[in-house]
Amino acid sequence: RDRQPILAIDGPAGAGKSTVARQVAQALGLLYLDTGAMYRAVTWMVLQSGIAVTDQAAIAELVSQCDIVLESGNSLNQSSLPEKSLDARSDARSLPTLNVWINGHEVTAAIRSVEVTAHVSTIAAQPIVRQELVRRQQAYGRRGGIVMDGRDIGTHVFPDAELKIFLTASVEERARRRQQEWQSQGQMHLSGADLEQAIRDRDRIDSTRRVSPLRKADDAIEIQTDNLSIDEVTAKIVDLYRQTLAHLHHHRL
Ligand code: CDP
Ligand code: CDP
Repeated sequence: RDRQPILAIDGPAGAGKSTVARQVAQALGLLYLDTGAMYRAVTWMVLQSGIAVTDQAAIAELVSQCDIVLESGNSLNQSSLPEKSLDARSDARSLPTLNVWINGHEVTAAIRSVEVTAHVSTIAAQPIVRQELVRRQQAYGRRGGIVMDGRDIGTHVFPDAELKIFLTASVEERARRRQQEWQSQGQMHLSGADLEQAIRDRDRIDSTRRVSPLRKADDAIEIQTDNLSIDEVTAKIVDLYRQTLAHLHHHRL
């Protein structure tokens, strides 16, 4: 196969996907793509444009034309990315927030708002939105050597990914993590019961939509993280990836 292995990490909101994915990418020297940030950026743009979140024709037009740029200036809108951009390594050691732009607007913080979060699942359920963003994700990952996190990476974006992880945690634990994250940033967007409800709502929409719903791929390894630290989860996945590499190497000889 003409590509490096792909590591797909899927799971519900707050399971730890993006935090762990960035650490794993850092540890293994892989690229990282936060696909949720792409759906969030499109949602921000829809809200900003005053388009109704159910106006599929207007959203289709918007998503086909939008220019989304994640982290170090790699434009995901380009059909063929320059070789160079595939060498960009995310500096996740201190886990800085990866910057996100859409159509020239810097939206890194704005896409995490309660409003964007409340509407993102509705917009992400629209087939035309998924078709366009999945196409860009596949183009970006075609050479492999990448960690991609989201909801449908192992089932739909890269069903042949060499290693698939499904991260889970109870809804209570996931709400607790989000709350703690906000607290540490000196923010408090939603309180306990409302936050838990918002997470449940998103889980439900994401796992019941008709196009590539959130589900564990049959060949994904599930890791239940309620009682695991970020570093413990990272170490497990790094280990599994190394085993995958050794296995692939062995079978090529
Ligand atoms: O970080 P958090 O788990 O809160 O969400 P996210 O990964 O930023 O994803 C935000 C939303 O985008 C999800 O609730 C899904 O509705 C959608 N999404 C998706 O449909 N498919 C993906 N591959 C990634 C995200
Ligand atoms: O991307 P996803 O929504 O799955 O989760 P995240 O944004 O990576 O993680 C949500 C929060 O949980 C972050 O503040 C992490 O630091 C925290 N976390 C944790 O406390 N323990 C874990 N095992 C994983 C994440």
